[in-house]
Amino acid sequence: MMNIHHKKFNEIFNTPHEHSFFAPGRINLIGEHIDYSGGYVFPCALTFGTYAWVSRRSDQKIVLYSDNFSELGVIEVDLSDLSYKKEHDWANYPKGTLSMLEKRDLTLDHGLNIYYYGNIPNGAGLSSSASIEMVTLWMVNQLFDFNLSLIDCALIGQETENHYMGVNSGIMDQFAIGMGQENHAIYLNTDTLDYKMVPIDLGAHKIVISNTNKRRGLADSKYNERRAECEEALSLLQTKADITNLCDLELNQFNEIKDVIKDEVILKRARHAVSENERTKLATKVSSDNDLEGFGKLMNESHISLRDDYEATGIELDTLVEAAWQHPGTLGARVTGAGFGGCSIAIVKEEQVEDYIESLHKIYLDKIGYEATFYVASIGKGTFQID
Ligand code: GLA
Repeated sequence: MMNIHHKKFNEIFNTPHEHSFFAPGRINLIGEHIDYSGGYVFPCALTFGTYAWVSRRSDQKIVLYSDNFSELGVIEVDLSDLSYKKEHDWANYPKGTLSMLEKRDLTLDHGLNIYYYGNIPNGAGLSSSASIEMVTLWMVNQLFDFNLSLIDCALIGQETENHYMGVNSGIMDQFAIGMGQENHAIYLNTDTLDYKMVPIDLGAHKIVISNTNKRRGLADSKYNERRAECEEALSLLQTKADITNLCDLELNQFNEIKDVIKDEVILKRARHAVSENERTKLATKVSSDNDLEGFGKLMNESHISLRDDYEATGIELDTLVEAAWQHPGTLGARVTGAGFGGCSIAIVKEEQVEDYIESLHKIYLDKIGYEATFYVASIGKGTFQID
């Protein structure tokens, strides 16, 4: 695979690449939609992700090409104008990261040719955008000796989403993509950024990812709407409790003061945040005890909460997850990532994976009218320089 891209790099930029880098995609095992409410999340990096090859230029141009968007050709920008441009499409992600670095006075004194290729399905909730941000940030950090850590890069990646792309996302994706370790999930406190690596031993089971292939549509605006609803809940609850984040509350404390929220919808959003945080804490406990059945049950409860209280699933995801629950090989299944389409994950008995995929494929096609795509996930390592 690499040789094809080396060759194409040469053809496009008329020079060989000097270095290459990789950043993975991610799934979140549990702890959904609470990384902007100070909750615990439990994501892991995947073995698929985004590769980037680079060579230095002597001028001030950043020349970008993605093999995934070859129809858009080469996108050329000058370091003096890194502003968002709709027509630059995917290239706004790398541009955004450079623009956020500039805000920290981390400027590039010469241009770059960068070629990207990713094998994460785009827009599927597996963080292809955070992956391109992280691969770019780490590349630039290494080439220009900016002395940033992977966690610094994760924070700058989040800033890119928040202040450049207009998505008010939390820290989970970039953190997992930066810091992931093979066969480990990251138990991350999104308030303090304290974290613990938890080994994931699935025994004779696999994590199967199902992609709804639903068009992204309004996902980003729905995401921002949920975040705003949580902020509204927080400010009401703060009149009754001395808290900084929704997830500072335990479920019983929340139940004592929840009447301060009169709006049923806002109440449901807050209940999801508080209950999901408790489930995530419990889930890491049971996974340390290797209780996969217990973990699976918590995944199911997480999905129900995201479906009913957070309303972040939709018929496509619910069809896949409910079909997974019916399958005898499934220990647990839920949406992963932002939802509103995107992917679900399930822990499935290895010997039943094939049958599971066949069965879900058929149920989904019959009900939704187009196909879902399936991947068996392997937990890989975070962002790194290849050569
Ligand atoms: C997206 C965001 C993350 C997180 C998840 C939901 O992936 O980028 O910050 O909020 O949704 O858990």
